Amino acid sequence: MKILHASAEYFPYIKMGGLADMLASLTKEQAKTEEVYVALPLIGKLGKPPQYTGKVYPALLPQDAEIDSLVVSVLKTSRFLEAKESGVTLYFFQSDLFQTLDSIYGHKEEHFRFAMFSYACYALSQILKVDVFHAHDWHTALSLALQKDSAFPIPTVFTIHNLAYQGDHPFWMTGFLKEEPFRLVTSPFDHDGKCNYMKAGILSANQITTVSPGYREETLAEPNGFGLSYCLNQRAKDYSGILNGIDTDEWNPKEDKRIDQTFSDANWKAGKLKNKTKLFQEIGRPLMPLDAPLVGLIGRLTYQKGYPTFLKAVLERLHLPHRYVVLGSGDPETENAFSQLSESIPDVFYFYKGYNESLAHKIEAASDFFLMPSLFEPCGLNQMYSHAYGTIPIVSRVGGLRDTVEESSILEYKTGIVFEPNDVSSLGYALERAKDLFFSQERDIVVKNIMNLDWSWEKRKIEYQSVYSKAIELNI
Ligand code: ADP
Ligand code: GLC
Repeated sequence: MKILHASAEYFPYIKMGGLADMLASLTKEQAKTEEVYVALPLIGKLGKPPQYTGKVYPALLPQDAEIDSLVVSVLKTSRFLEAKESGVTLYFFQSDLFQTLDSIYGHKEEHFRFAMFSYACYALSQILKVDVFHAHDWHTALSLALQKDSAFPIPTVFTIHNLAYQGDHPFWMTGFLKEEPFRLVTSPFDHDGKCNYMKAGILSANQITTVSPGYREETLAEPNGFGLSYCLNQRAKDYSGILNGIDTDEWNPKEDKRIDQTFSDANWKAGKLKNKTKLFQEIGRPLMPLDAPLVGLIGRLTYQKGYPTFLKAVLERLHLPHRYVVLGSGDPETENAFSQLSESIPDVFYFYKGYNESLAHKIEAASDFFLMPSLFEPCGLNQMYSHAYGTIPIVSRVGGLRDTVEESSILEYKTGIVFEPNDVSSLGYALERAKDLFFSQERDIVVKNIMNLDWSWEKRKIEYQSVYSKAIELNI
């Protein structure tokens, strides 16, 4: 089967969050049995130089190239450059629209830039004659509407990674979508008086998925449907929740080259201690006691991640022996609050502002616990990375976190600590349970449990296969 994915992120080239990791790991696994292609934008600053093959593909369908319009003139000067990565064929969309950017999101004209990319992905799918076209999030959602209106539609799947970002723009900005070569009727994409790209994807795809069963259920009602729950309910029978997998080569404590001491479930205690010692040296906080529970946090500092709840809980529980190492960037308010704490209680709290892939691995390897206080979480990957590194996750009971972490009363099934979202005292109490667990014999059993969990794609990729089969059936 030939599958073309379309996405704004792909690890290690463009990464802002979990979408990049999810897609790179899924496609690497799919490529073992299928022909897998991925279209992504070529931005000015990539995480790694691509291995180009020299082959080039147009970003326009031949019949549309004849048309005289602004969009066509932009697409005429754009093209796809083919590259190879871990058995997957990548198509980098080379266009002035993206090449001047050094990061993928947050720039003006996103409504136009991603619409152009979506058209180009649609054209590529038709040129490559793929069996399934799989688009991810709002950035590529319009390609599904184009596919639906095409004379030769290709079966489509739309994966929602985060409903909080919908790509909605005033209609006066998206008038070009009615014109050549889009020719879209945009009135059905209206949500709250705006042209909503996410809604376009939901209405147009043959099959819709999201990244955990728990999040699927939550998005069918408000507030987690972010206003689109009615639309998802209309499509409920074609909407499934497939839990993300992880790249078990990239996140493997036995072979991880980014950490100071590799380890397995047989020597995790010694391994963690060495990694902790090195981490403290590296961050210049040698005074942190090694025998106190170290809690790691890594993430985009946004509303979704619930960090204000965490800050309040930490301040209320300063009597606990915990130490905290936080890595992240985002909202200036949260950044400032973390920086202040890092200065005022340097023996307890350390904050690294920025993005640092290698430090993320070091924190996972060194920490005893990993905290995710999300208010909502479509899947979340760090709780699964934590499991692999013997780092006990402490998570809020939401979305994919509740699907992957269980605070069972039966020790053999316990895989972490769970608390209620947006609840300072529930989080504080979870930190207390973490202390008890840290100093008890039970910790050894929980660490063994989690290090032996299988979060690989190997078995789970079949679920996408069956969604592809349904999309093909519906498209006939
Ligand atoms: P989301 O996609 O909502 O950000 P996920 O848990 O799915 O959440 O994935 C986040 C990914 O991004 C993880 O691999 C995490 O380690 C990484 N990440 C987030 N912020 C940073 C950062 N500041 N430095 C390094 N890695 C980060
Ligand atoms: C989104 C979600 C996150 C999920 C990731 C990959 O960014 O916020 O929960 O793990 O996509 O699917």
